[in-house]
Amino acid sequence: MSEADRIQLEGIHLAFGSRQVYRNLDCRFPRGEISVLMGGSGAGKSTLLRLMAGLLRPDRGRVVVAGEEITSLSERDLFRMRERIGMLFQGGALLDAMTVFENVALPLREHSRLSETDIRAEVERRLVAVGLPDTGGLMPRELSGGMLRRAALARAIVTDPEILICDEPFSGLDPLNVRRIEALLIELNRRLGLTMIVTSHHLPSSLRMASQLVFLIDGGAVVGTPRELLASEDPRVREFLEAETAGMPGFEAVPGVAS
Ligand SMILES: Nc1ncnc2c1ncn2[C@@H]1O[C@H](COP(=O)(O)OP(=O)(O)OP(=O)(O)O)[C@@H](O)[C@H]1O
Ligand SMILES: [Mg+2]
Repeated sequence: MSEADRIQLEGIHLAFGSRQVYRNLDCRFPRGEISVLMGGSGAGKSTLLRLMAGLLRPDRGRVVVAGEEITSLSERDLFRMRERIGMLFQGGALLDAMTVFENVALPLREHSRLSETDIRAEVERRLVAVGLPDTGGLMPRELSGGMLRRAALARAIVTDPEILICDEPFSGLDPLNVRRIEALLIELNRRLGLTMIVTSHHLPSSLRMASQLVFLIDGGAVVGTPRELLASEDPRVREFLEAETAGMPGFEAVPGVAS
């Protein structure tokens, strides 16, 4: 594996019963860059994130995270490995019965031995970073959808991970909040050098953020820069992009993408 790659998947096969999700899938995620995973519903985006986080093992193939082959690690070693990965799950939910503070503090209580004073300071620092100062005492139901997503992001980065995995961070948000979350992710990437893997159906954001796009199609991956994929001749990529950009102002100007 090249040192430039933070995560590498090689020869991945995975089936759920008769549903073959990946067939000899290969892809790599470069260090310090934002990669966006795209593909139709059920293409296997969330499942790929679960493989990277060691929450699921493939039937065959290698998953290498930060130089370590994780498919054969024990549960204890996987727990240690997961400390290096922040996760924003699809839906980005917080636990309803806990305050925002307790939600964001949860990974620290699980993975660190910080004192209560240090935990307070660390949580507030992260809430400030996502633009939610002084909200720790609120309950999740008191936050708007955009605020909830930002609080979930604060929770995902509270342990200073090297890698941040975000499953559909834009889903269900209005355009203003999409822009906000997008700006926040870009800032975290630039400021902290976080390696990010983001799944998204939101094409404009994906094109703006990604240094690499990974399309999951037919059990494999088609990889390229946004520019390369917009110019792709692969009919499966074209079909997907055309469906996603249909009627979207501005995309008539992308050569060949809007028909
Ligand atoms: N635990 C599971 N048991 C059985 N089938 C599963 C399981 N997890 C995922 N699948 C199947 O694997 C396929 C990929 O699912 P996945 O959730 O990764 O898709 P996705 O690309 O994230 O879709 P979406 O865009 O809707 O979030 C689907 O066909 C799904 O039904
Ligand atoms: Mg999904």
